[in-house]
Amino acid sequence: MLRFLWESISVQVLLVFLVVFLLVADYMKHRKPKSFPPHPFYLPIVGHMYLMNFSNPLMTVQKLNEKYGDIFGLEMGTASFVFVNGLQMIKEVLVNQGENFLDRPEMALYKELFSKRVEGSALAHSVLSLAGLLSSNGHLWKQQRRFTLSTLRNFGLGKRSLEERIQEECRYLVDAFGDEQGHPFDPHFKINNAVSNIICSVTFGDRFDYHDEDFQKLLRLIDESITKSGAIMSQLYNSFPSILKFIPGSHQTVIKNWRLMRSFVKERIDKHKEDWNPSESRDFIDCYLQEIAKDKGDGAFQEENLVACSLDLFLAGTETTSTTIRWGLLFMAMYPEIQARVQAEIDTVIGQARQPALDDRSNMPYTNAVIHEVQRKGNIAPFILPRLTMKDTVVDGFYIPKGTGVIANLTSVMFDKNEWETPDTFNPGHFLKDGQFWKGESFVPFSIGKRSCPGELLARTELFLFFTALLQKFTFQAPPDATLNLQFKMSITLSPKPYKICAVPR
Ligand code: HEM
Ligand SMILES: *[C@@H]1O[C@H](CO)[C@@H](O)[C@H](O)[C@H]1NC(C)=O
Repeated sequence: MLRFLWESISVQVLLVFLVVFLLVADYMKHRKPKSFPPHPFYLPIVGHMYLMNFSNPLMTVQKLNEKYGDIFGLEMGTASFVFVNGLQMIKEVLVNQGENFLDRPEMALYKELFSKRVEGSALAHSVLSLAGLLSSNGHLWKQQRRFTLSTLRNFGLGKRSLEERIQEECRYLVDAFGDEQGHPFDPHFKINNAVSNIICSVTFGDRFDYHDEDFQKLLRLIDESITKSGAIMSQLYNSFPSILKFIPGSHQTVIKNWRLMRSFVKERIDKHKEDWNPSESRDFIDCYLQEIAKDKGDGAFQEENLVACSLDLFLAGTETTSTTIRWGLLFMAMYPEIQARVQAEIDTVIGQARQPALDDRSNMPYTNAVIHEVQRKGNIAPFILPRLTMKDTVVDGFYIPKGTGVIANLTSVMFDKNEWETPDTFNPGHFLKDGQFWKGESFVPFSIGKRSCPGELLARTELFLFFTALLQKFTFQAPPDATLNLQFKMSITLSPKPYKICAVPR
């Protein structure tokens, strides 16, 4: 009887049964509690991918925002995300209930690059313990974060030494712009080089000449990786790493480039180890080597983490600041009256003979306001970096289960019609009150809460010194035969489309 039954069930029926079973199982797994934030209809396996307009994913999410309001859910592959909008709600998530949202979701790329190497340490058992600062979690993250903040501080953040290094780099950058003799050029890689030299001198102890071919190549690799990380294949790779790992596409370039970047950092570390003198700490790497030497056996400080941390600083510290400066020059060329007022303030407070110093900032409310407005309108990290819900949490009456990804939308704060006079127009008046510099709560480019940007102080110092040094010596203009525009491209950061500009000596 059984045998007869068995034989009469065809392979097709079995397959159909299996597929239905898998779909139902998948559906059950992803079924959301009633009070989960509103979300569109969920399809098994692909989740909400079917909604995605892959040539413009931002558009897709924007539509959901219009439909569902300030908080809504979205399934990407196997991961579940909640989008959060508006200052009140973002503050609730990142500050008031910040302790529940400190982790980051696992990034396939970091896992591929680093996690194997953590083996052998006490942390090896935990899959989520990825290396570094930007993508690590829990105890490991706390240790790296504390160490990085205090080391950055010791290297003269807020002290003379670092200010002098930045001033020195400003001289190189001004010279390099001067070499162009007012002709149109793309300032991208010169700015990139100057900015990364600051973080290089803090982490590795060196700067690199703008003509150093190897370093230029590295900067281009980084740029390519950042651009390609925004591509569809890379996004899909993050959702389905185990399949995409074996398929060609832009994500393979990203992985390859990261390997090269990692070996660049690794070489620097090896050199430091060769001539290491425990009683002297020249830079971030030296300090970290000291921590490794006195590691208490919990594995938080070990070489692979040093590689990842240095890479994090290098990448997070270069792309962001340099993109902001590129926006700044573009805004200046597009709004000559605003540029002229900045230059007038520079001439009054600093003059032409002396280099700008950080102390000047408090006497330059207009310039300070312009730099803040560049950051607001530039909006280079509109979705910060994703977070992960660490335990079941209720936000604004909605239930967010442990393990849900959270994405805070800074655009909704920095372009909020109720907070800003002219949110869509470049307007330094947003940061001035009675001629004095003024800043409200809705200025959040570095994010807020315990996991906000640890490089904020450094970035603000760099932005002020580079920006004033350049405007002290040049007037920025569109090339004679071209018009400039504010078109952007979205990858990991939101950056201006490549442009050429004239730096006319003053
Ligand atoms: C204009 C310049 C910059 C902007 C707009 C910016 C913005 C941000 C934002 C929005 C985050 C995510 C924070 C969160 O998850 O809540 C972040 C994280 C981070 N930034 Fe920056 N940043 C800038 C410059 C820098 C610099 C110069 C450094 C180098 C010291 C740096 C190092 C980092 C690191 C290491 C993280 C990860 C922190 C963690 O996960 O604990 N950033 N940044
Ligand atoms: C982010 O905020 C802006 C401005 O409020 C809005 O237009 C956009 O749809 C939001 N995006 C998401 C993904 O919520």
